[in-house]
Amino acid sequence: MLSEAILVTGAAGFIGFHTAVRLLESGKEVVGIDNLNDYYDVTLKEARLKILQNYPAFTFAKIDIADMEGMKTLWAEKGPFKKVIHLAAQAGVRYSLKNPHAYINSNIVGHLNVLECCRFTEGFEHLVYASSSSVYGGNTKLPFSVQDRVDNPISLYAATKRSDELMSHAYAHLYRFAQTGLRFFTVYGPWGRPDMAPFIFTKAICEGEKFPVFNNGKMKRDFTYIDDIVSGVLAVLENPPEDNGETAPQRVLNIGNTKSEDLMDFIALIEKEVGKKAQIDFQPMQDGDVQETYADVQETTKIAGYKPTTSINEGVPEFIEWYKGYYGAG
Ligand SMILES: NC(=O)c1ccc[n+]([C@@H]2O[C@H](COP(=O)([O-])OP(=O)(O)OC[C@H]3O[C@@H](n4cnc5c(N)ncnc54)[C@H](O)[C@@H]3O)[C@@H](O)[C@H]2O)c1
Repeated sequence: MLSEAILVTGAAGFIGFHTAVRLLESGKEVVGIDNLNDYYDVTLKEARLKILQNYPAFTFAKIDIADMEGMKTLWAEKGPFKKVIHLAAQAGVRYSLKNPHAYINSNIVGHLNVLECCRFTEGFEHLVYASSSSVYGGNTKLPFSVQDRVDNPISLYAATKRSDELMSHAYAHLYRFAQTGLRFFTVYGPWGRPDMAPFIFTKAICEGEKFPVFNNGKMKRDFTYIDDIVSGVLAVLENPPEDNGETAPQRVLNIGNTKSEDLMDFIALIEKEVGKKAQIDFQPMQDGDVQETYADVQETTKIAGYKPTTSINEGVPEFIEWYKGYYGAG
């Protein structure tokens, strides 16, 4: 018999944690898995997990998705699952220049293992997995639309996320189970990732440290607040693509805020909330980075009613409040 629980991979991660909390708050059962790797501060992952473990309907298993035997055991003991939100991955564009194998293991082998588990589950309903806005790579046409070609990744991270989309297409075509890939655009908010710009800037400003800003600050990002991301993920989960017997029952959707913000405006908001001036070390563009991101979410709105509602004027103060409380800063 299929489990009523929703499997969330990467549950100790930033987006996985928030997604699991929202599911648990709505009365759902959640099985969370994560390998708790040390790509960034493990105590932050453990602190998120501790909150999740307060919910009786939450079960955690420490598993590496690249370990097929471990995944099979999980599926047999806690599954089989009919709905999966697959967020575990080696994230980060810049780190993929330093440790490429981590990306192949988690994002390619790990994704394949998740697909294999779903493939053999009779009555499987929907796999929603994380892709990334980085698949748009060197594209210059804005906003980025899911109709655009995405053949020119400029980092290995982006190449692995695009590969996930292609692997998912092949599996949906061959084995006819529903899948949706979500291209997230720069997510920020409470419990956010220490390797990402909003966190790095905030920490440096709080501590009065100088920090690098690339491309001399001439960057634009579609910053998306975590609550909007979670709403999008869960709305999409409830709207699986149907199998018409012809095209593969899969699709790829953007989840962004649909506003491309100047990086310097984002920094100014942090300065205002922290009450200190930033000490910026302007640097040239970094390898693997893109100058601007901007999401077209029309398709996501049409399919799942997705509508982001949090501007950076509202989201940044929420993030800073959490940061100060958690780290005792300021
Ligand atoms: N945060 C963003 O702005 C953003 C943007 C685009 C795409 N994404 C994608 O969204 C997903 C979630 O991102 P996040 O920001 O929450 O990142 P995160 O690093 O906080 O979360 C990922 C979690 O997966 C776990 N993990 C990594 N490799 C694993 C493995 N092999 N087995 C089991 N667990 C593993 C990590 O320990 C971590 O807790 C990722 O797939 C990421 O690539 C995030």
